[in-house]
Amino acid sequence: MLKRAFFIFRIYLDMFIDFVFGLIFEGERKKLPELDKRHSILLESAVSLAEKIRTKQLKSEELVRTCIERIQAVNPLINAVTDERFEAALKDAKEVDSMIEKGLPDEYFKDKPFLGVPFTAKESHAVSGLTHTLGILSRRHMRAADDAECVRLMRAAGGIPIVVTNVPEINKWMETRNMVFGQTRNPHHTGRSTGGSSGGEAALHASIAVPISICSDIGGSTRMPAFYCGLYALNPTAGHTSIKGSTLRSGLEPTMASIGFVSRHCSDLAPLTKIVAGDKAAGLNLDRAVDVKKLRYFYVETARDLRVSPICKDLRDTMTKAVTLLTEQAPSSDLAPKPFYHNGFNYMFALWRYWMTRETEVFGKMLTNNSGEAKFIVELPKKLLGMSDFTLAAILKLADDQILPPVNKEWAEQTTKELREELINLLGDDGVLLFPSAPAPAPYHYSPLLRPFNFAYWGIFNVLKFPAAQVPIGLTSDGLPLGIQVVAAPHCDALCLAVAEHLGKSLGGVQAPCNIPQ
Ligand SMILES: *[C@@H]1O[C@H](CO)[C@@H](O)[C@H](O)[C@H]1NC(C)=O
Repeated sequence: MLKRAFFIFRIYLDMFIDFVFGLIFEGERKKLPELDKRHSILLESAVSLAEKIRTKQLKSEELVRTCIERIQAVNPLINAVTDERFEAALKDAKEVDSMIEKGLPDEYFKDKPFLGVPFTAKESHAVSGLTHTLGILSRRHMRAADDAECVRLMRAAGGIPIVVTNVPEINKWMETRNMVFGQTRNPHHTGRSTGGSSGGEAALHASIAVPISICSDIGGSTRMPAFYCGLYALNPTAGHTSIKGSTLRSGLEPTMASIGFVSRHCSDLAPLTKIVAGDKAAGLNLDRAVDVKKLRYFYVETARDLRVSPICKDLRDTMTKAVTLLTEQAPSSDLAPKPFYHNGFNYMFALWRYWMTRETEVFGKMLTNNSGEAKFIVELPKKLLGMSDFTLAAILKLADDQILPPVNKEWAEQTTKELREELINLLGDDGVLLFPSAPAPAPYHYSPLLRPFNFAYWGIFNVLKFPAAQVPIGLTSDGLPLGIQVVAAPHCDALCLAVAEHLGKSLGGVQAPCNIPQ
């Protein structure tokens, strides 16, 4: 009864927050420039572009030049790029073209499946020579000396880095804003957030400016911006991708973070994920053939975590559409999707918060570039006087780390274990869980400060170390992307992708945020 009253109160509170922020940010909505006809090659998948370069139907130089022109057209609106290597990328591309012109053996292309295809990375992944600030003011002049492991692998696969993109401070917020480069805007609605922390990657990718976008995800950072910007994404089973050189990590420590990609093409996610998984790729079983009609489906309509907003009508309807489709297509009634719930979902945020304390990085120290430790009680008054080097979001995170009581260790570990075991038993190697992505589509800028726990629908699967795909499912009547998550047991990443592709294709998938001339 009390819980119900609280939920109803939350619904009205959310409406009120959206009303007030809408008064400010609806006016900031600007239309993304239409895709120039000369740039229509950018609509193709990375796999198809690589194939065209390999078979001499397309020059890498032409593709890189096209990306540069499109980036220059959209970036003033979305503010995604923090640094570029346009000249160097064109030079790399010309070298690729001349090698292909001279003739390369098939073996060479096997080792370099993305030869000549440009890529971008969030700037928390070190890209040699480019800014590597992590959004920290004291690091504003820092440039990476080496490539992060994921960038090194992508280059080794033939990819050509062209830009790095914006992130929130140390990747730890639901919006992409910092004191060095400012705020990245959502291409579908520039008054709204792209999400974080791979917000620069998703904004640029959704703007149809780049074919490959390297992200990372410790609490939704790949899937959240994919959802808000209307893209596919995969956060692979934890422990298979190296985060060496990303957010200054050594790559040796165990972590719930994975490297992943956002994409307009679901079919690109497996081949790209294999590249960054390197010699651990086999453990993800991405080549497994999957028949979506033979899988067992479960779904969660809403979690009952009191910290998280209730799910809005548009997104409840989205889940219903997916469940209805799979029910209609089920070969027999026992293969129709079944509702599932576990009380562990009542504590999605608390569990994530606990497991974050088991990661090696200390947020307050990293804010000072590890030269001290930023303190909430010092930074809050400084912020109020306009003298802090940090965003309000970072200061709230300091409060969470330093002021609020810690989560009980035994409880958190036991609850995680029970939820993980039950889900592994439930899903086996042929079961899939449809799960909400978030309570609502892309929020207005700054409004997540009043709803800081709404990323928990993503974070819980980092806690469990399960693979999860983000599926774009069309737009709201106001043009905001909708979607759901598709989750499978560890090492069953191929199931997530097969179902994501099926649902995306059947229910609206990716929609462009701008005009595309025919
Ligand atoms: C920040 O830390 C790095 C080491 O990670 C160091 O090389 C650099 O000089 C530091 N920058 C500043 C401005 O203190």
